Amino acid sequence: MPDASPVNWHLAHTSWFFETFLLVPYFRGYQVFDAGYAFLFNSYYDAVGDRQPRDRRGVLTRPSSDAIAAYRSHVDRHMEWLLSEAGRSDIEELVLLGLAHEEQHQELLLMDLLHLFAQSPLKPVYRADWPVQSASIDGVFRRHSGGLLEVGTNDGGFAFDNEKPRHKVWIEPFEISDKLVSNGQWMDFMTDGGYSRADLWLSEGWAVVQAKSWQAPEYWEKAKDGSGWNSMTLGGMRPVNRDEPVRHISYYEAAAFATWAGARLPTEAEWEVACVAGHLSVTETAVWQWTQSAYSAYPGFRIPAGAIGEYNGKFMVGQMVLRGGAQISAPGHVRPTYRNFYYPSQRWMFAGLRLARDASPVFNGERENEEFAQSITSGLSAKQKTTSPMYFYDETGSELFEAICQTPEYYVTRVEKRLLERVASDVAAFVKPNSILVEFGSGASEKTRLLLDAAKHVHTYVPIDISNAALAAAAARIASEYPSLRVMPVEGDFITMVDTPFDFPKGPRVGFFPGSTIGNFSRDDAISFMSAARTMLGRGSRFIIGVDMVKPLDTLLAAYDDSAGVTASFNKNLLTRINRELGGNFDLDSFEHTAVWNDEFSRIEMHLVSTRNQTVNVASRSFVFREGESIHTESSHKYSVDSFSALAIRSGWAVEKHWLSDAGEFAIFCLKVDGA
Ligand code: AVI
Repeated sequence: MPDASPVNWHLAHTSWFFETFLLVPYFRGYQVFDAGYAFLFNSYYDAVGDRQPRDRRGVLTRPSSDAIAAYRSHVDRHMEWLLSEAGRSDIEELVLLGLAHEEQHQELLLMDLLHLFAQSPLKPVYRADWPVQSASIDGVFRRHSGGLLEVGTNDGGFAFDNEKPRHKVWIEPFEISDKLVSNGQWMDFMTDGGYSRADLWLSEGWAVVQAKSWQAPEYWEKAKDGSGWNSMTLGGMRPVNRDEPVRHISYYEAAAFATWAGARLPTEAEWEVACVAGHLSVTETAVWQWTQSAYSAYPGFRIPAGAIGEYNGKFMVGQMVLRGGAQISAPGHVRPTYRNFYYPSQRWMFAGLRLARDASPVFNGERENEEFAQSITSGLSAKQKTTSPMYFYDETGSELFEAICQTPEYYVTRVEKRLLERVASDVAAFVKPNSILVEFGSGASEKTRLLLDAAKHVHTYVPIDISNAALAAAAARIASEYPSLRVMPVEGDFITMVDTPFDFPKGPRVGFFPGSTIGNFSRDDAISFMSAARTMLGRGSRFIIGVDMVKPLDTLLAAYDDSAGVTASFNKNLLTRINRELGGNFDLDSFEHTAVWNDEFSRIEMHLVSTRNQTVNVASRSFVFREGESIHTESSHKYSVDSFSALAIRSGWAVEKHWLSDAGEFAIFCLKVDGA
């Protein structure tokens, strides 16, 4: 491999560095160990003469290891003498450079050794206990506000010339993942055709992928039994561990992955300021991280005089910067300002990536969507990804729900309305004179009219709804249609509202909760809600609830997956809302609406099923979806008279009466406070 050198060469070259740049010029009377070594072990210093070509270092089977060990002892001994001379502060910089240089070669030696061992059919083990590194399940995007900042070294400790001078940079607000991309995420990329989709690749990268037939990171091999991937490590051939950071990838691959993930690579300045701000949880201990910055001179950089000037400056073209550090970096060698660099097609170094992206505008300024973001991101972090159905109802969602109610398949609204028309006067008989009617989630207050028409003795109506606009319009209409009725609209989420003390006017209270919205609560939540409503409404109150009943499966499935696709649009609108309000990047075409019956819980479930492996970003977080994995977006529990009565009893209510629709598809229950 033209980029790799034998172990002996590294050992000799690092001593040659001390001999050439310290002992020869500064140790009076120093005799070189072997005049021929300058040719063999000069790496790339034109100023000090000719050399063995790099790609032919592998043919140097002499000098022997023993000879090189003797060379190293000779140089070390003379270095000790030189360092023991008093007043040699003039060589301090060079000595530190020699040590840092040797540390760099300690890493190179391991990289080169791994490459060499990987070529052997025996797959030799360097160290059987080579540690596994756990990396990066679902990194969190950390926001950095950017601004006019400084990068580069400033602390007076040792740093390479390429880290200087410290200088100002302007950085736009950005987000950077606190974790590294894992092998698991990489496999998802591969399964999604990552190596065969030209649209993901830089043109130069695409050419390399094809020319080299890359289908996976360097050292990955398909397991012979077809069970997955193995990869060559310093611990030998091992199954690829999904949780370890991906490594041995080129810049081209890193950039393609970032595009696939809807993100990008960080710039080196972003990486550095995020690291200094403490946003990065894995920096120097796993893999070097590709940045999108080309390796070039910082403003004000001057190539140092003499041969040492060849150390970094002359490589500042055509390479990309990597930041961080690797598992094989010498301890204490790296720092946040450290600039590593490789050609974009190289893969044998321990290189991986972390993702970054431009800061999503939603989070500029006030974090008004924080609660929404919190709910969605914690739901998407669960094993079965879940979202709360309450977020369906933005403006479009509410319109789509109205449209669902008009579809031939969605019987719920029509049947309830017909039932209420038929039994309203019976229901009204349970409403005491001068009652206060409290409606939970009143919306347009359509069904309320049927009840108010029959129960003329209601004197106050308290509609509670989260949508201020819907509430104000409905309250105004009811007030004008029922002039003797006092209307007291309350804006808010009725689920939390039932838990807060409420100042009702005097009089018995009647709760009203039509539409089978109770079906959208889990059983436990339904019990909590109905119990809280009981406390809120108080002793002697009534609770009128509309409940959808269990019925033949084909009717249910059709109701939640209508042929015109209105319910599908309603379900997917949640993703549109997340994209808009939480800076998400859901691809709506990669999710399918489904409705399934869950017999165990007696409920219809709506899901959005990912049609491919993909990573989606929402509110600065990224979420990995496997093909076929779903977000459970809603449950609609279906009850029998008995099962709902049992639920009511567990919530501290008793069933006073119930009315069933003609075909028994829907029920209206009148509950009273138990014991009252
Ligand atoms: C509001 N809720 C009672 C409806 C239901 O039937 O669960 C919401 C809905 N979801 C799909 N279609 C209708």
